[in-house]
Formats: sequence, structure tokens, C-alpha cells
Amino acid sequence: MTTRPAAVVVLAAGEGTRMKSSTPKVLHEVAGRSLVGHAVAAAQELKPDHLSVVIGHGRDLVAAHLAEVAPGVTTAVQEQQLGTGHAVGVALETLPELDGVVVVTYGDVPLLTGDTLHELVEQHVADGNAATVLTAHVADPTGYGRIVREADGGVGRIVEHKDADEATLAITEINSGIYAFDAAVLRAGLGRITTQNAQGELYLTDVLGLARQDGRRVGAVVTGDAWQTEGVNDRVQLAAVNREFNRRVTEKWMRSGVTMIDPASTFIDVTVVLERDVVLRPGVQLRGRTEIAAGAEVGPDSTLIDTVVGPGASVVRVHANGAQIGAEAAVGPYTYLRPGAVLETKSKAGAYVEIKKSTVGPGAKVPHLTYVGDATIGEGANIGAGTIFANYDGVAKHPTTVGKHVFVGSDSVLVAPVELADGSYVAAGSTVVSATEPGELAVARGRQRNIAGWVARKRPGTKTAAAAEAAAGDTTGTNEGDEP
Ligand code: UD1
Ligand code: CA
Repeated sequence: MTTRPAAVVVLAAGEGTRMKSSTPKVLHEVAGRSLVGHAVAAAQELKPDHLSVVIGHGRDLVAAHLAEVAPGVTTAVQEQQLGTGHAVGVALETLPELDGVVVVTYGDVPLLTGDTLHELVEQHVADGNAATVLTAHVADPTGYGRIVREADGGVGRIVEHKDADEATLAITEINSGIYAFDAAVLRAGLGRITTQNAQGELYLTDVLGLARQDGRRVGAVVTGDAWQTEGVNDRVQLAAVNREFNRRVTEKWMRSGVTMIDPASTFIDVTVVLERDVVLRPGVQLRGRTEIAAGAEVGPDSTLIDTVVGPGASVVRVHANGAQIGAEAAVGPYTYLRPGAVLETKSKAGAYVEIKKSTVGPGAKVPHLTYVGDATIGEGANIGAGTIFANYDGVAKHPTTVGKHVFVGSDSVLVAPVELADGSYVAAGSTVVSATEPGELAVARGRQRNIAGWVARKRPGTKTAAAAEAAAGDTTGTNEGDEP
């Protein structure tokens, strides 16, 4: 049996002062997704009728971000942060009359999973509770609200750290701030809470105490995984949570058949997809909508952003953004693939090669020191070392087409727009400005001329001159054992 909540309310109005950032706290990222994005993703797994995010500080940026990543979510603006109880009240005002379960969670607890929220809701319903809180036992409960249990084991109330006496401070079971409420109990309770506490705030936690006073059942789900309740308040916590998140993501992929030499230096966004027998070497970052097919090897030291890698490809020390690497293609080391770079099956892009908005055909090779922009390179073509596709005339970009099995000699400049027909050649060192026909060789370079005796005249007394002199006096018979 699964219960779909009437609503999930995500609290995200706080300033996050300790982040010391011009970016609102909940827009900081963990594993390629914003903190609030994680909260919304976990909430969406409950399939609630309504999902409302309470925003305040940086509301324009947060609202714009949510509209982009979670268009089904509604936002409620809390002008002043008068407390967690006030924040939930603001959200309820923007929603229709609710019946059933309302879940409250935070925008800054990225490790919380949909499964844990499910468990919270199921326990809440099964026990017939008015409210159920997610708690954890922690070594250092400083700053957290403490769970005050009653003789029967039920939750009596929650006391904030700043309001607690010695005995209460000794309690190590803490309030995560994540709850399931009966909608009617929540609405009634929010109408009764006051600001009579150390912080002068409207505490959501007081709703649980009031329900208990009314003789209703208040329960707790204790999680053994305290990371799931860990909030991010500063950049040190952001890094710690990010590392733990990544540990979980890498473990999940290893369990589904991905080899990682060093998971601690392998960073994988939540949006990435990997197939079996992918091998990731140390220092790999996989970001955005990157997908890697079976048997491909990536790394060491590679960053792939929104890049698709085909089966059996090899990607070594590469930075790629918006690229497609075909089956069994070989890329790297030291290759820069920019948006629209498409390497087809068994093609190659080697050292110090930059490719933008271009297709390298099946089996074609761009092995060394080359810039390729706005080009189509045909099957089996070979682009010599140091070739530049000159695609920009200072005003506009132009295309270059290189036909099948074309051979471009080293250090050539292909000035776009230009087309090299199938089966044509370009001589090394050429600056090509006009098209070739099939089978032609284009030669476009100064003819070589040798000036005899130049070194002796212009560089007398140098080692070069001496070497020339020795070689000149030695032109007849240099074979060893051929002494006079
Ligand atoms: C709250 C709980 C505490 C719990 C702790 C867990 C209360 C009274 N206390 O304390 O028992 O142990 O969380 O982290 O609820 N927020 C708003 N609007 C507000 C106030 C807060 O949106 O007016 C949001 C914040 O952005 C934040 C969350 O609610 O994401 C928690 O607020 P915070 O002020 O950090 O609560 P704590 O004092 O830590
Ligand atoms: Ca907090």
C-alpha cells in the first residue's frame, strides 16, 4: 500500500548567511543538481497532489530555477523568515483545503531520499499518527531540536536547543525537521503556536507538542542513516555532503557493473548514465547528461559534460562538452571536444586536437596538433599533424568538407569555405583555398630553392659551418672499413 500525500512543503526561504555567497544557498549544487533540486526530486517520488516550495531570500533566482528544473512545482513567498511554523503556514495559504497527509521537508538536505520519505509516510499512516517526525541519534546534537520521549515511547514534544534545560540538552535523538502531518492537525496547530520562546519565532515543532497535549498520537521514524538529515549551512558542510553523495553514487554504479580504479577521485552527476563494463580511471568527472556505453574506458583525468560515449571507446585525458564519441573511437590524450563534435565509429582524435561543431567520419583520423571547426570529414580520411581548418574570416564562420579517404598533408591550412573531393590529396604545408576534384593533389606552397655555400659565407666560424665543411670534404665514400 502506498499513500500519496496531499502535499509536500519544502522550506527554502532562509538566507543561508554562512554560505557567504551571492548565490542563494539552495541553488548551490551537489552532484550536478541544486540543493533545492534534490529536495524536489525526493518529494516528487511521493507523487503528492501538490508540491510547494517556500521561498524568500533570493526568491527571483530560486523561482526561476524551479520553473526550469521542476515546472510542476508551485512556490509560496515568505516575505520575512518568522520561523518554520510561519513558513509552512505561508505555503498552506497558497494551496486549496487539504485532506490527508502533508509532508514537510527542507531545501538543504540533499542526501534525503524518496525511499526515506516513503517510509515516514507509511509509518505515519500505519500507526494512525497525527504527526510523525524523522529523527536520528547523533554524537553531537548541538543546535538541533531534541526529541522528548514519553514513558510509552511516543514523542511528547520537541525542544529547541536554545530553549532546552540541562537534562534536555543531554538527549541525543534529534529532530531532522522532516515530518508527516495529518493536514487538519497541521492547519489547526499552526493557528495555535506562539512566539513565546528563546528565538521569538513561530516553531513548527510546537505543532507536535500541541497534538500530543490534545491526546493525539505523535510518532517518530528513527533513521540509522544520519547523513540523510544532514543540512548544508556553509561550504565546509557542502563539501562534506558532496563527498558523501558521490560515495553513494559511485557505489551504486560499481554495484551495477562499472569498474572504478579510484572512486574517491571519480565524480559522477546524478543525471549521468553508465552501462556495464565501463571502466573509469582516476580523476574522471562525468557531468550533466553524459552517457557512457558498455565497455568504454574513460580517464585518467578527463571531464565529460553532456557527452555521449559509444561502446568500447577509449577516452584518455580529454575535456569534452556536448560531444558524441562513437563506438570504438579513440580520443586523447590531451584532446578538447567542444559542442557539436561528433566522432563516428572507430575514428580517432589525438593529442592537442580541438574539434568544434564537426563530424569525423568512420575510421577517419585527426591524430595530432589540429583545429577542426565547422567541418565534415569523410570516412577513412587522414588529417596530417598541424592542420588548421580556418573556419572564421573575422566576420562569419564557413564550412569545410573533406571527402572520403582524403589525405591532408601536415601543416596545411584549409581556408573555408572549401571542399576536398573524395580520394584527393593535399601536399604538406599547403594553404588550400579552392576545391579539389577526385584523385587530384593540391600543392599550394612556395617552391624550395637551395643556395649553395650560404652557411660558409654568412655563418663562418660556427659549429654548423664546421659540420658543413667536414661533410663536404667527406662526400666520397663514408663507409666504415673503407679506409684508403
Ligand atoms: C529547525 C528545527 C529543529 C531541527 C532543525 C533541523 C524548528 C523550530 N526547529 O531548526 O528542531 O533540529 O531545524 O535542521 O523548526 N525556514 C524558512 N522560513 C523560516 C525559517 C526557516 O523557510 O521562517 C527554512 C530554512 O531556510 C531552513 C529550514 O527552514 O531550510 C530550517 O530553518 P532553520 O532556521 O535552519 O531551523 P533550525 O533553527 O536549524
Ligand atoms: Ca538549520
